Amino acid sequence: MAELALTVIKYYLPEAAAGTDGCPSSQARAITNKRFITVNRGAMSGGKAPGGKPVVLITEKLGDPGIEMLKETAEVVVALNLTPDQLNEQIKRADALIVRSATKVTRAVFEAANGGLKVVGRAGVGVDNVDLGAATEYGCLVVNAPTANTVAAAEHGIALLCALARNVAQADASMRGGKWERGKLVGVSMVDKTLAVMGFGKVGSEVARRARGLGMTVIAHDPYASEDKARAQGVQLVSFDDALARGDFFSLHMPLTPGTKKMFNDDAFAKIKKGARVINVARGGVIDDDALARALDSGAVAAAALDVFEEEPPKVEGHPLIGRFAETFDCANC
Ligand SMILES: NC(=O)c1ccc[n+]([C@@H]2O[C@H](COP(=O)([O-])OP(=O)(O)OC[C@H]3O[C@@H](n4cnc5c(N)ncnc54)[C@H](O)[C@@H]3O)[C@@H](O)[C@H]2O)c1
Repeated sequence: MAELALTVIKYYLPEAAAGTDGCPSSQARAITNKRFITVNRGAMSGGKAPGGKPVVLITEKLGDPGIEMLKETAEVVVALNLTPDQLNEQIKRADALIVRSATKVTRAVFEAANGGLKVVGRAGVGVDNVDLGAATEYGCLVVNAPTANTVAAAEHGIALLCALARNVAQADASMRGGKWERGKLVGVSMVDKTLAVMGFGKVGSEVARRARGLGMTVIAHDPYASEDKARAQGVQLVSFDDALARGDFFSLHMPLTPGTKKMFNDDAFAKIKKGARVINVARGGVIDDDALARALDSGAVAAAALDVFEEEPPKVEGHPLIGRFAETFDCANC
C-alpha cells in the first residue's frame, strides 16, 4: 500500500513529489490498454477539496502507513462497501481513487466522474477490475503495485500446496466433526513429485524456488518466460500439453487475459495427469469451474485448492465447487 501511495503521490500530486525523479519506474508504471503513457505532471494540479487539495477516495481496507502518507498532501475519504450507485455518486468529488480487487471500476464510474478522475490506483498486481479502455478515453491514469504482494501470494501458494498434499483442511473438518481418521488422511508426499508452475512470472518463480526446497521437481509453462531465468532456478520450461501430462501438482500463476480465460477447461482436464492436484492463487477466471467440478467427479483431478474465484465473494448457493467438500468428502482420493 505504501508503494501505491507513493506512486499516486509521485504522478498525481506534484508538490508532494518534489525531490523525486519524476520518471516512471518499472515498479510503478502507468498502464493503459494500449501503451504506457507519459505523465504530464504539470497538468495534474488543482484538486477538488477546499484550498485546491486533491481528494483521494479509498473504497477498500488499506494499510495505515499508505493512508497517512496520502493525508500529508490530500483529503482522504475512506468509504468501504459502497454499492455501484454510491461509488458513482462519491466519485464525482474525487480526484483519485484507490481500490483493491473488490471494487469494479467500470465505464459507469468514469462516466460519472466525467473527466474529473485523474488517477486510479490498484493496491495489488492486476488491473483487471478497472476498465482500461474507459480510463484511456477519459484521460485517467491507472497505476498498480506489481510487487506489493508477490511473496505473500507465493507463500500462500505453498501453504495451499502443502495443505492439499496432506489433507490439512479435511483432517481439521474431520476432527471437528468428532472423528479420528489418521490413516485415511495421511495424504501424499511432495518429495520427488512434479510441480507444474503455470505462469513463471514474479509469483510463479517464487513458488518454484520454494517448491525446489521441498524436494520437488519443478517444470513451468510460460510462453514468454526466459529460458535462462528458468535454467538458473533449475526449472524446465515446457509446453502447455507437456505440463498437463507431467504435473502431479499444478500451481497457477498466469494473469487473467482473453488468452488465459478458462485455460483450465474440459479439454485441459482431459489431458491432465490422472489424479493431479490443482492450486489457484492467480485469478478465478483462469479455471472453468464447471469443468473442474466434472474433473473432480471423474477423478481426473484428485483435489483442488482455490484462493480466487471468478466472482468474489463467491455465491455459495449453486456454485459448482463450494460446498462439494462437505457433500462428497469420503477420502476416496486422500
Ligand atoms: N491471490 C492473490 O492474492 C494474488 C496476489 C498476487 C498476484 N496474484 C495473481 O497472480 C498472477 C501472477 O502474478 P505475478 O505478479 O506473478 O504476475 P507476472 O506478470 O509477474 O507473471 C505472470 C506470468 O504469466 C505469464 N503468462 C502470460 N500468459 C500466459 C499463458 N497463456 N500461459 C502461461 N503463462 C502465461 C507471463 O508471461 C508472466 O510471466 C496474476 O493473475 C495476479 O493477478 C494473486
